[in-house]
Amino acid sequence: MSEELRLGINIDHVATVRNARGGDHPDPLRAAKLAEASGADGITAHLREDRRHIRDDDIARLMQEISLPLNLEMAATDEMLQIALRHGPHAACIVPERREERTTEGGLDAAGGIDKLRPIVARLGERGVRVSLFIEAEERQLDAAAALGAPVVELHTGRFCDLGREGDKAGAERERARIAEMARYGASIGLEVHAGHGLGYDNVQPIAAIAEIRELNIGHYLVGEAIFVGLEASVQEMRRLMDEAREIAGAAA
Ligand code: PXP
Repeated sequence: MSEELRLGINIDHVATVRNARGGDHPDPLRAAKLAEASGADGITAHLREDRRHIRDDDIARLMQEISLPLNLEMAATDEMLQIALRHGPHAACIVPERREERTTEGGLDAAGGIDKLRPIVARLGERGVRVSLFIEAEERQLDAAAALGAPVVELHTGRFCDLGREGDKAGAERERARIAEMARYGASIGLEVHAGHGLGYDNVQPIAAIAEIRELNIGHYLVGEAIFVGLEASVQEMRRLMDEAREIAGAAA
């Protein structure tokens, strides 16, 4: 029997729509509460350096008003570290961040950034924040996460999703196999393995079927789909697809 697979909902793009007009609507906190009522296990939000979606006061409101664990995505900067230490969210996922990128492109180079990351991971850990590193599914990145003492890694599924949507079935399958192998490897060296980026109804099941993956973080697709069916329905359908994939994989194992 595989372990439970949690669903973290990334509400950044509710804030993107809000910020397009500069007012208060739609409120990402309201989205977080709806996601909670619809079967989400956690809320994820990325406070970017340029505050293009979630803002500082959103983090404070989420911390105060939701009962689900909050996973704060953050760059490895002193500013973000201070914010994370002040709020003490359940988890912090350290992501690479470039101002000009449209979204988080590629994983964090944990292996090349051990010295910079070590004090950040340590201070968050001392504050009781569960640290996750958003990395490519590569052995050297997993080894670096373990060496840093990060309890969690999130494997970047962006390439898998892109190849699949471009119609490159063989390429997507190679990526899926690499993610599965690295999820197994990560679990074998004591890491809790999560995954995310680019997932939608069309491609979540092969990733959800990987037994060692314990959490998926999904945002853009669900917020987009919510325009047509509402957020509750989009979260519920994602939950159903994940559960179905897990059940089929569990029965086949
Ligand atoms: N996980 C991490 C670490 C991310 O940076 C993002 C995007 O902010 C996601 C998951 C969610 O990706 P998407 O919005 O494509 O579902």
